[in-house]
Amino acid sequence: MTVRIDLADVGDLHQVLEDHARYWGERDLRALHLTALVQEFGSTCLVARAEDGIRGYLLGFVTPHRTGYVHLIATREDTRGTGLGRTLSEAFTETARRQGAVRLKAITSVTNEGSIAFHRSLGFDDRVVEDYDGPGRARVVFTRELP
Ligand SMILES: CC(C)(COP(=O)(O)OP(=O)(O)OC[C@H]1O[C@@H](n2cnc3c(N)ncnc32)[C@H](O)[C@@H]1OP(=O)(O)O)[C@@H](O)C(=O)NCCC(=O)NCCS
Repeated sequence: MTVRIDLADVGDLHQVLEDHARYWGERDLRALHLTALVQEFGSTCLVARAEDGIRGYLLGFVTPHRTGYVHLIATREDTRGTGLGRTLSEAFTETARRQGAVRLKAITSVTNEGSIAFHRSLGFDDRVVEDYDGPGRARVVFTRELP
């Protein structure tokens, strides 16, 4: 089945919110799916489409300091381990680079072992930053310099 990487629109955002558990399981991250990201940073918000629907997506943007920031990346549970997350990340990297990004950054919770393994496979460095998300709320911060 062919998978196509497209720019995400608001309809896609609503679709993945309806199917939220297929991407995030028990975790409720719906509040992080901001319409503003798709509306204002549409060129760095991507979906992977196939005949059976949206298989994965990435919401990101490039900061004024030239960091390509990945706010959310998720692949549908039945498509994991097929290279789709890597494909989405590479597509974002190319778009971010064209917009001037010289490094990438992403954040995850300290318990998200899958995300940590995924980002390490993609060549990100990681470090735990205490209080990143407020007092007592540590996060893993991933960074990767772009060659
Ligand atoms: C993290 C996530 C996006 C990975 O997507 P994916 O499509 O399964 O990833 P890929 O198949 O492209 O894997 C890319 C590499 O990461 C590795 N990897 C991915 N998930 C892994 C896991 N759970 N454990 C170990 N390695 C993993 C793969 O082995 C692969 O390595 P390789 O290319 O060196 O062989 C997916 O598991 C997911 O959506 N998780 C839930 C949402 C989430 O936590 N997102 C990240 C926080 S924002």
